[in-house]
Amino acid sequence: MLLRASSSLFFLWALLSFEATLADTNVTVDDSDSSIKYSDDWSVTSASNSLDYGGFHHLSSTKTSTANFTFTGTAVYIMAPLWPYAVGANAAVDNSSPVSVNMENPSVTSTDGGSEDVASAVLWGATGLSNSSHTLHISFWDNADFLALDAIVYVYSAFKCMWQR
Ligand SMILES: *[C@@H]1O[C@H](CO)[C@@H](O)[C@H](O)[C@H]1NC(C)=O
Ligand SMILES: *[C@@H]1O[C@H](CO)[C@@H](O)[C@H](O)[C@H]1NC(C)=O
Ligand SMILES: *[C@@H]1O[C@H](CO)[C@@H](O)[C@H](O)[C@H]1NC(C)=O
Repeated sequence: MLLRASSSLFFLWALLSFEATLADTNVTVDDSDSSIKYSDDWSVTSASNSLDYGGFHHLSSTKTSTANFTFTGTAVYIMAPLWPYAVGANAAVDNSSPVSVNMENPSVTSTDGGSEDVASAVLWGATGLSNSSHTLHISFWDNADFLALDAIVYVYSAFKCMWQR
């Protein structure tokens, strides 16, 4: 009798200790990934640079250039290096108004061109999105001379069953 009672208590404890928790996973998508759709006026850097995520980035000087990335998740971020002159992008999720993402290094004197001088990092993000399909729209920011895209990070949110300790 005692044995039976304690084994059902153990069973109850086991049930209560099995819990679903939310697990967020950051997925980094490099600019060369085929899931990013570019208009045909972009080009890709020809020489690898360790300041770029994955070694390369996409760039354009055409004001009508766009890129779109569709993902299922609750947040999206843009990663880019910084340049010593006016580089940037406009970013919008779904139908939101475009927000400028400045990729110019503010701590040096502007140059006429050349390579990036600060390593790629997260510069902008949209969080708190519904857990469904969204599209990140990238377009030309008029205050910049060049449009660039180095990497996109999105957050995939899933329930994960875990034993509670
Ligand atoms: C995902 O990336 C964002 C932006 O860098 C960061 O704030 C967040 O902590 C990361 N989340 C996880 C689960 O690594
Ligand atoms: C990106 O989406 C916008 C808005 O739907 C569209 O106007 C543009 O043509 C798309 N660009 C590409 C490269 O698919
Ligand atoms: C988010 O959506 C995905 C795809 O529909 C699904 O697999 C996942 O369980 C959802 N996560 C949450 C926290 O509801």
